[in-house]
Formats: sequence, C-alpha cells, structure tokens
Amino acid sequence: MLSLHNSETFGSEWSAAFSNLKNKADCMTSSELDVEIMKTWNTKINPDGTLTNPIPILTNIEPKPIYAGSIGQVHVSSSSQSKFYAVKIRYPGIASTVTSDLDNLNSLLKVVNVVPEGVFIDNIIEEGKREVIRECDYEIELENHLRYIDLIKSDAKLLEYGFRVPQVIPELCGDNIIVSEWFHGVTIDNISPEPEIANRISEGLIRLTFLELFKFSFSQTDPNPGNFLWDERKGEIGLIDFGGCREYDAEWMADYFTIVKAAALGDRAMVEERSFELGFLSSKDSKKMIEAHIEGAMILGEPFRGGEFDFKEGRVTQRIGEVAKVFAKERKTPPPRNVYTIHRKMAGAFETVARLGGKAGGRVILEEAEEWINSKR
Ligand SMILES: Nc1ncnc2c1ncn2[C@@H]1O[C@H](COP(=O)(O)OP(=O)(O)O)[C@@H](O)[C@H]1O
Ligand SMILES: [Mg+2]
Repeated sequence: MLSLHNSETFGSEWSAAFSNLKNKADCMTSSELDVEIMKTWNTKINPDGTLTNPIPILTNIEPKPIYAGSIGQVHVSSSSQSKFYAVKIRYPGIASTVTSDLDNLNSLLKVVNVVPEGVFIDNIIEEGKREVIRECDYEIELENHLRYIDLIKSDAKLLEYGFRVPQVIPELCGDNIIVSEWFHGVTIDNISPEPEIANRISEGLIRLTFLELFKFSFSQTDPNPGNFLWDERKGEIGLIDFGGCREYDAEWMADYFTIVKAAALGDRAMVEERSFELGFLSSKDSKKMIEAHIEGAMILGEPFRGGEFDFKEGRVTQRIGEVAKVFAKERKTPPPRNVYTIHRKMAGAFETVARLGGKAGGRVILEEAEEWINSKR
C-alpha cells in the first residue's frame, strides 16, 4: 500500500508532532493498518502493489501514526487539495482485550483486598467496561461527533469564545475508522497564555461544561487535555474526540442541579435534603459520611457563589479529593451511576482552568443554567 502511504507530502510542519509519538511499540504494523483500512474503505491492492482507492478524498496517509493511544492510533492524511485530515483507526479486537483487562484488574484487587468497601469497585469497573465498549464503537463516535457539532453551533457565545469542532467526513468513517478535518493546534495543557486569553478560554470551558450538563444533557466526559487543542494563530479552541460522550436524562440533571445550586448558595440543609432524595446519601450512612458529602458539595459550589472564581487558588478538586477519602471508608450505598462521568467532566474542566490560571464561573453561569433548565420545563 505504499502509494497511499507517502511521507514526502508531510514536511517539517509535522515533524514536531511526530516526535511526540509515544507507545510506538503498540502501533499497528503497516500491513495490519492496511487490513484495517480495507475493511472500511474497500481499498484494493493491485498486482503491481499500487492502490485503487474508491474514495478519492484522501490521497495520502502518513504511515507513521501521530498518536497511538489505548484504543487506536491517529494518522495524518491529506487530500489532493492539500487539506489535512485526522484518520483514527481502532486496533483490531481491542474492546474484548480492554474489558478482559478490567475483569482481571477487578479479580486482582479482590485477591489483594486493597480497595475499601465504600469505593464500590464493582460498580466502577462495570461503568468502565460500559464506557470502553462504547468508546470502541466508532459508529457511535461518529453519531456523537455530528450531534456535538450541531449543539455547539446552537450557542453563539461558544463561538465567540473561540470553540470549534472540526468537521467529520461520514463517507470515510466506519466501525473502525473515523476521519475528521485536521485542527492545527497544541494540546491545552501545553500552553501558558496571557491572563486575558487564559480567562477567555477558562470562561468558555466552564460555560461549555454547564451547557453540556444542564442544557444539552449530552456531554463529552473525557477530560484528557489531548481532546482540547489551542490554535494560537486564530485564537480558537478545537474540540475533538467524541468517543466519551454520554447522554443524561434531562430530568435527572435538573434534579442534580438543585444540589449544585443549594451548594453554591451555601445552603447545607438543602444540599442534605436533596442528596437523600437523589440517592447520594441513604439512611444507612454514618454522620461522618453525611458531613463529608455536604462538605464536598459545598466546595463544588464555591466557584458559582459570587464573582468570577480563581480556580488555581481555590484548589477545588484537591480539596474535594481530601474529603472524598472519608467516602471510601464510610459510604454504605453506591452513588448514582451518572456521577462517575459527571464529576469527571467537572473535575477535568476545573483542573484545566486552574492550570491555565484563569478566572471563571461565578453566580452568573449558575443563574444562566437555571434559566436553561426552567425553559425546558
Ligand atoms: N481532527 C484532529 N485534528 C488534530 N489532531 C487530532 C485530530 N484528531 C485526533 N488528533 C490527535 O490525535 C490525538 C488522539 O485523538 P483522539 O480522537 O483524542 O483519540 P483517543 O480516542 O484515542 O483519545 C489527539 O489528542 C490529537 O493530538
Ligand atoms: Mg482523546
């Protein structure tokens, strides 16, 4: 398949990106890659070794992946019009490998007996398996990607903040391949912008998080900084990777919001009442557990209590992490399943904003979220 794999096309612009490649040992070989590509594109190898590619959009694929992750690898590719694309190809058989790894991990943890009961590790592993299976299904990812493009467009402010989602090319996608337009940028954990820019990105990220949770009830819950790319030239933030999208029940999210709101207003009694009603706490829980839960909620509510919040100084995720140690010892009932991904989403956004040193959040976004929820009722 050498005529398709042509590194000449990809000049020095890409060399830094290729040099970042980790886990090279885990990449697919060129012939494994060819087999995977053929499954979706029906690309034919001619007797002379050249290719007949029935889908003419892509003329070149760089043979060396630019990224190799746990589920698949990404190749940069170009068209005859010199437009660049990301071709993400799933490793064959990966879903069963990862789910059985998770089963083995669970058995091992049971044997060595290191996980406290209050962690409810079975639930976490079950949730993890469900997520991995979904993430390995690139047809679901394509659907998520298309849906996300529409949702992002529905909020004019997100565009003003500079958020963009690269187009995906459905005719080139299959259950093992996703092709999207290349977004030129660096991952958001590798930038140190001026305060004004840091604040703009931070405000945008917090708005995006609230929109996803409380307006769209559909969220990209994978906080990996590699899914957020900053294009300094255009001042834009590219959002990629929709394998970790989750849909939530809008009613449940509206209920969950009442806890966030009570916490933001500093209303401990209301946090307690709503937490019992929604199953975050149960009558079996100890006083210590109840107190720790309320304290955790209060810390989560802080950024939405007053003016814009300094996430770096506020150390929200670290402080919640401290009180959550009590959960591991004291929790008697597992929390609602949604919280694993919702809290991962929030923690990811808070940490990114803290790293950027940006100020964001505040009462304004809380009030706006309440309007979104009320307008659905
Ligand atoms: N459309 C794109 N534009 C630019 N870079 C991309 C694009 N898609 C993927 N990448 C690069 O490949 C990496 C992995 O892609 P991603 O979709 O996040 O895969 P995974 O599901 O394995 O996390 C990204 O962090 C980014 O560096
Ligand atoms: Mg990713």
